[in-house]
Amino acid sequence: MGTMWSAAIEDAMLKVKTNMMKYEGLFPHITENQRYEWGVNEDWIEGFYTGMMWLSYEYGGDTYFKAYAESQLANYKNRMDQHISLDHHDIGFLYSLSAIAQWRVTGSREARELGLQAAKRLVERWRPQIGVIQAWGVEGDPENGGRIIIDCLLNLPLLYWAYEQTGDPHYYEVAHAHALMSRRYLVRGDGSSYHTFYFDQQSGNALRGGTHQGYQDGSTWTRGQSWGVYGFALSYRYTKDERFLETSKQLARYFIDHLPEDHIAYWDFDAPITVDTPRDSSASAITACGLIELLAIIGEEDADYSYFKDALQKTMESLVRDYSTMKMPDAEGLLQHGSYHVRGNRGPDDYMIWGDYYYMEALIRMEKGLHTYW
Ligand code: GLY
Repeated sequence: MGTMWSAAIEDAMLKVKTNMMKYEGLFPHITENQRYEWGVNEDWIEGFYTGMMWLSYEYGGDTYFKAYAESQLANYKNRMDQHISLDHHDIGFLYSLSAIAQWRVTGSREARELGLQAAKRLVERWRPQIGVIQAWGVEGDPENGGRIIIDCLLNLPLLYWAYEQTGDPHYYEVAHAHALMSRRYLVRGDGSSYHTFYFDQQSGNALRGGTHQGYQDGSTWTRGQSWGVYGFALSYRYTKDERFLETSKQLARYFIDHLPEDHIAYWDFDAPITVDTPRDSSASAITACGLIELLAIIGEEDADYSYFKDALQKTMESLVRDYSTMKMPDAEGLLQHGSYHVRGNRGPDDYMIWGDYYYMEALIRMEKGLHTYW
């Protein structure tokens, strides 16, 4: 078993390094026809690329990865100082896998400072009248001012970390309160989830669930579900609030129970299935990371342990065997058949840089048990 994972990791590291050399100074964005578009640091996804460099360095010790990732810190700092495309909650994704990963691996004070600056910026998105972190846009934005999305759960570790570092309880309280509101309004009784939820900006009243990238309002968008599986497990790790553990498990059971035969999810659990329906391998990779986290928390005595472990094994075997680019030496991406925004026809069936990142995180945690950067 170890051999299968380690061969996949070696292949992944080689591809990341090849991209770094070929596209020096640039970041991968959306894909078109199995090629990443390479550009500057102004989207929500750049951290995944930097995170893969830190994973590669920690796994194999190649200092090329470390030096390159460190050299990007100034770029992330400039983005923060100039406030370049940061009117969104994805500050957590961006800075957890760059500044905080660097601080965790090297102890860099500069990286820690930038991480704290990022947390400060994220916590400014707290809307006390509703009790949530606003996902997108500026305060008072007519469409998005009272809107949350389930993806935000992966941005909360930045705030929990800032609390640990500074002792300022506001970071913890905001993250904990947002996770509770997400649990209450985004998760449904059967363990499925809304992608997004709207609140009235003035009164704070709950309005309705909806979607952005899912099949339709009320459907369970697969990647949203996977953000929930991993995100609630992480909130449990930092808070020890049992409600988050239960919710993560509930979402994981729903995810696993609705998988097709090869254990890799279609892009939305409510989309009609035909031979042309795209998968979202990235969602399965994120859920795999969530299952690894859950297994470490619950231990072998838990009634769900074998069920989750079996699902993790089958998912990772399927990803490595049938979705990875191990047999495609010239491929830029690591994982085929991810989907970004199927209805919007943006990367409906291609490499996703976060799919590549979580695939690598899962492989490396399974092989070496390395900690996560979240
Ligand atoms: N957080 C955006 C996405 O998952 O597509």
